[in-house]
Amino acid sequence: MIEERFFQDRDSLFDALTQDCSERLETAIDNRGAASFLVSGGGTPKPLYQRLAGCDLPWAKTSIALVDERWVDVGEQGSNETFIREHLLQDRAAVATYIPSKTGDASPEAGLAECEQAYHTLPRPFDLVILGMGPDGHTASLFPHAGGLTSALDPHSGQLCAAIQAQPSAVTGPLTERITLSLCGLLQARQLHLLITGDDKLQVYRAAKDNTDFAAMPVSAILHQEQVPVWVYWSP
Ligand code: 6PG
Repeated sequence: MIEERFFQDRDSLFDALTQDCSERLETAIDNRGAASFLVSGGGTPKPLYQRLAGCDLPWAKTSIALVDERWVDVGEQGSNETFIREHLLQDRAAVATYIPSKTGDASPEAGLAECEQAYHTLPRPFDLVILGMGPDGHTASLFPHAGGLTSALDPHSGQLCAAIQAQPSAVTGPLTERITLSLCGLLQARQLHLLITGDDKLQVYRAAKDNTDFAAMPVSAILHQEQVPVWVYWSP
């Protein structure tokens, strides 16, 4: 269920991905009157969000939420909500509805129930989900051997979201408290888009395809499931 779309350069990749995403959002709204768009932070998808923000799409009928968030307030260093507000919820997309994941609670564990409730307002199956991948094989905030990972990777947990305490690493930096879509939540998508660039990530992706130890490389859980098609977009 993996479809690889590999491109020669980033411009071609982002042109094709913007087209693909636009069509999926339009189809959702044509068929069901509303769309859900789940987005990742990280540097890689920025050109996608900037392009989509300028597209003439039915944004007023689109709900946007994060795939994962650091447990920091909007405006603080590392806030994915801030990143999405600055790069996607702009221009034509400014009228989309944003569903927050960060609550006023002290920890992701304490905020989980409220976040879960908020995510239940999103149309499901999720129409469009953009995932990234880190050099450690994490996706969303499903970090290798993290606290909370076992239940987050349980495909039958019945929970859309999960609280994560990542092991501090060069990848996480100091912001190790996260809220994330769980594997169970990710599997409630019509399809998943995994967006990666560069040769290093291609090597990590290939290793993750061969790996079956999901706690060591959580993105492998996405690549090995048979429920939801995965579109892998890559360019150098
Ligand atoms: C985040 C993410 C995370 C990201 C990867 C890749 O909030 O940081 O959702 O899972 O997609 O870490 O990040 P880059 O695109 O910056 O390499």
